Amino acid sequence: MKVIKEISAIQDISDYYKCTGKKVALVPTMGYLHKGHVSLMLKAKDENEIVVVSIFVNPTQFGKGEDFDKYPRDFARDYHICEKAGVDYIFSPDTEEMYGKNQFTKVTVSDISEKLEGKFRPGHFEGVATVVIKLLNAVKPVRIYLGQKDAQQNVIIKKMIDDLNIDTEAVICETMREESGLAMSSRNAYLTKDEKNKAAVLSFILSEGKRMILSENVNDIQEIQRQVTKVLKERAPGFELQYYEVTDNNLLNEIRDLSGYEGEILISLAAKTGNTRLIDNIIFQKKKTPA
Ligand code: PAJ
Repeated sequence: MKVIKEISAIQDISDYYKCTGKKVALVPTMGYLHKGHVSLMLKAKDENEIVVVSIFVNPTQFGKGEDFDKYPRDFARDYHICEKAGVDYIFSPDTEEMYGKNQFTKVTVSDISEKLEGKFRPGHFEGVATVVIKLLNAVKPVRIYLGQKDAQQNVIIKKMIDDLNIDTEAVICETMREESGLAMSSRNAYLTKDEKNKAAVLSFILSEGKRMILSENVNDIQEIQRQVTKVLKERAPGFELQYYEVTDNNLLNEIRDLSGYEGEILISLAAKTGNTRLIDNIIFQKKKTPA
């Protein structure tokens, strides 16, 4: 496994593999790797000859007052995890290499970036879309591997790839969870043991939402929101639900008429405890409710 720090070097490497008919895959990350990241690496390795993992804590996707400075970083640990997973290259540019001194260009995926997370983290997805297109232009992968954990990010990246004719296929992989149901996340490192126990209720209220829609035929989203807020208050006092939204998984539009809706449903949430903000989601298929 090699560590590459320069954009021109990773571009040359990618060109070389393309010439020799080998498929290059990219797993973009901000490091502090866990089993969720590893699952993407293993799937990428399974489906492509060469796997590049990028490790870059991207400053432009953090807002003022967010956790950029204290975001967990441990390159030696990440290196070991990548090596064990059979990764071929780590691409870990520094900020100067990535953005230079004056970068004027930004990529905005309008509308869908302003929904859900966008309401609480203005500018966040502009930072994500801009860094992801830069990573795609550096690594030039045939496929990019992303986790369902960040459902809105996936919708935005897929839309950008489509809108800008980028020749890369996005592969979405399932969310890896702790035994308790808690979605794995680098930010779980901020949680105390007690907070971590309580945070398991987040995945539970997502399953509850799914159950109410599919098994109880609940048609009123506000009713679902009321019930899950009650469960959260009882089981995880100290957690504040910032949003719990039921949308389609394509343009993230709110579903008004649940009974008449047919297709993929995305329930996403964000919750805060102290200074830690966690997100999670569930995606499932729904058929029209028979009259
Ligand atoms: P990061 O939070 O490090 O996540 C990197 C990738 O791992 C994302 O595609 C994310 O959805 C996936 N991932 C995180 N937790 C997961 C889990 N529990 N199960 C499966 N996959 C999981 O997302 C980012 O970094 C950044 O925004 C990035 C795309 C790298 C741009 O800076």
